[in-house]
Amino acid sequence: MSTKIAGHSDRDYIVDTGSRFCDLPERLLAQLFFGRYPFIMMPVTPSDLQSLTRWFHSFEFDDGSQIFGEKSLARLKAEADVVFSVPVEGKSVLDICAWDGYFSFDAERRGASFVSAIDHFCWSGPGWGTRTGFDLVHKKLNSRVVATDVDLFQITAERFGHFDIVLFLGTLYHLTDPLSALRLVASVTSGVAIIETHVDLLNVNEPSMRFYSRGELNNDPTIFWGPNIACLRAMLQDVGFSRIEFHPIGELFPTQVSTRIVAHAWRR
Ligand SMILES: C[S@@+](CC[C@H](N)C(=O)[O-])C[C@H]1O[C@@H](n2cnc3c(N)ncnc32)[C@H](O)[C@@H]1O
Repeated sequence: MSTKIAGHSDRDYIVDTGSRFCDLPERLLAQLFFGRYPFIMMPVTPSDLQSLTRWFHSFEFDDGSQIFGEKSLARLKAEADVVFSVPVEGKSVLDICAWDGYFSFDAERRGASFVSAIDHFCWSGPGWGTRTGFDLVHKKLNSRVVATDVDLFQITAERFGHFDIVLFLGTLYHLTDPLSALRLVASVTSGVAIIETHVDLLNVNEPSMRFYSRGELNNDPTIFWGPNIACLRAMLQDVGFSRIEFHPIGELFPTQVSTRIVAHAWRR
């Protein structure tokens, strides 16, 4: 069942071709009433945006409306200030695993010349998310961010080119092969890669990475790894980054155990 936001004069409309939103009473009524029509068009209101999908990112818009996702606005803003402590204006940005796109849209807001957002796992893959949130915000912001649904291991410089800034946020520890993922990040980075990740074993000096099996960390079976900072540095050097800076950013969610760090890694 597909959902699109369609431009229509000065208002946006939801084109709802399926039963996806029948938990919304007004849509259920409309579908019952107009059920024989292939689609119905209804105006989008700010409260619709919140209830149209399950949000991971939070947003606030110039008209004062907000979306409340699992990652709070305060957390996202604080993280973005660290992530974008390198200049973004006029730069090309690739956001690998963008999900609802907070960082893609923020890069655009901060003056990036071109932003490419990529995801698959939480857009149309096995993750609990979808691309609906990204598309809704894209439309609301009249954004020029280019979205591509592709698995991150299918990203190549031949297809996507090289980027001044590559964002690889909140993803490394989810992957069974983090070193290959960093090699891929390096392959499309011409300037700086920005990696945000969970870290562990911070009292160990040697490069080390903890393995979590079967949801051992925060009951999340998609989390596999917790590298320490020495390990992150060694892996980033191994894939071709020469200068690396680390910025601790504390816990991700107040209710979960996850110490986080942002790394800025320059190719040269
Ligand atoms: C915690 S979210 C981070 C989203 C965003 N980059 C941020 O930092 O807020 C994890 C992202 O990794 C992607 N991903 C790719 N492969 C994954 C996997 N095997 N398990 C979990 N997430 C995966 C998801 O689609 C999602 O966009």
